Amino acid sequence: MTKYVISGASGSLGRKITEQLLEKIPAENLSVSTRTPSSLDALSQGGVAVHAADYNDPVALERAYAGSDVLMLISSLAVTKRVPEHRNAINAAKRAGIKHIVYTSTAGIHPQNPTLSASDHIVTEDDLRRCGIGYTIMRNACYAEVFPTVAAQPVLRSGEWVQVEGNGKLAPISKNDIARTAVACMLDPARHDGAVYEVTGPDLVSFRDIAAMASEVYGVPIRYVPVSIDQRYALLDAMGVPRQYAEGMDGHPDAHLWCSEEMVTADIAFQAGYHGILTHHVEFITGQKPRSLREVFELCKGKDYNDC
Ligand SMILES: NC(=O)c1ccc[n+]([C@@H]2O[C@H](COP(=O)([O-])OP(=O)(O)OC[C@H]3O[C@@H](n4cnc5c(N)ncnc54)[C@H](OP(=O)(O)O)[C@@H]3O)[C@@H](O)[C@H]2O)c1
Repeated sequence: MTKYVISGASGSLGRKITEQLLEKIPAENLSVSTRTPSSLDALSQGGVAVHAADYNDPVALERAYAGSDVLMLISSLAVTKRVPEHRNAINAAKRAGIKHIVYTSTAGIHPQNPTLSASDHIVTEDDLRRCGIGYTIMRNACYAEVFPTVAAQPVLRSGEWVQVEGNGKLAPISKNDIARTAVACMLDPARHDGAVYEVTGPDLVSFRDIAAMASEVYGVPIRYVPVSIDQRYALLDAMGVPRQYAEGMDGHPDAHLWCSEEMVTADIAFQAGYHGILTHHVEFITGQKPRSLREVFELCKGKDYNDC
């Protein structure tokens, strides 16, 4: 009987993967790991083994992964510091006897992509290719839920969708569809061994399209405002967003919550076309098409990011 472990199970994607995997396998075949086991009490009461393990703690990681065959490795949030964290997880997986790792990378993997977070994933993807055990890389496009929630909130207040200028496109995907894809890869590692999937939604859209969609769904006029890179930085400076990551930023222990360098380099990459990728990999892997951005907008309208 194959045993599974999900690392990063307490996060928004990890919870969806866990829920969907438990529809297919008994709880006793699943372990999960997190730095905050108390956040997963409900799982533990349902018979899932919950382990405490930080990506900075190789011994705890090995303990958490021991006895499992397939690891779902959800990438850490510590952008620019997470390569060694992921390396710890991969090496712990090898020591623990894991046979296959499914990893959450990002869309737009390219040596010239200026996005801070992409550079981390490039190195971890290489580590996986060399690690000597089976792997599947999921290059997840931008979460569709971000646009009707986190991105729309300031726009609905100001009536302006401000974006670094350019004509880039992207194919946002819902977290539910990413989770379905991850579960399918975990359940059939032989079929997906060595594969690199571009996990995209069904449509390529520009930011101008997204602003128009927000306007239609929320029923308010929204003006699309392209700005230069310097203007974008100046706007974020005025909002008090720090340029770079710093320890304790936003009161979060990882200091991971959006510095402007991360946001603006991501915008530059979007508008330069690095995310202009549309595939049918979700349907190829799961047999089912992913939701459109419009459907996600309707489902998430008026909700918080974490509730949709
Ligand atoms: N494609 C996109 O648009 C997009 C959007 C958002 C995020 N992401 C990326 O996708 C990945 C997962 O996203 P998510 O939405 O599930 O994020 P999330 O809700 O913030 O969850 C992050 C998970 O990572 C775990 N984690 C973070 N640092 C850790 C560490 N040092 N050791 C062990 N576990 C750690 C957290 O566990 P504990 O805190 O409980 O330990 C949590 O379970 C992240 O890499 C994130 O950057 C992608």
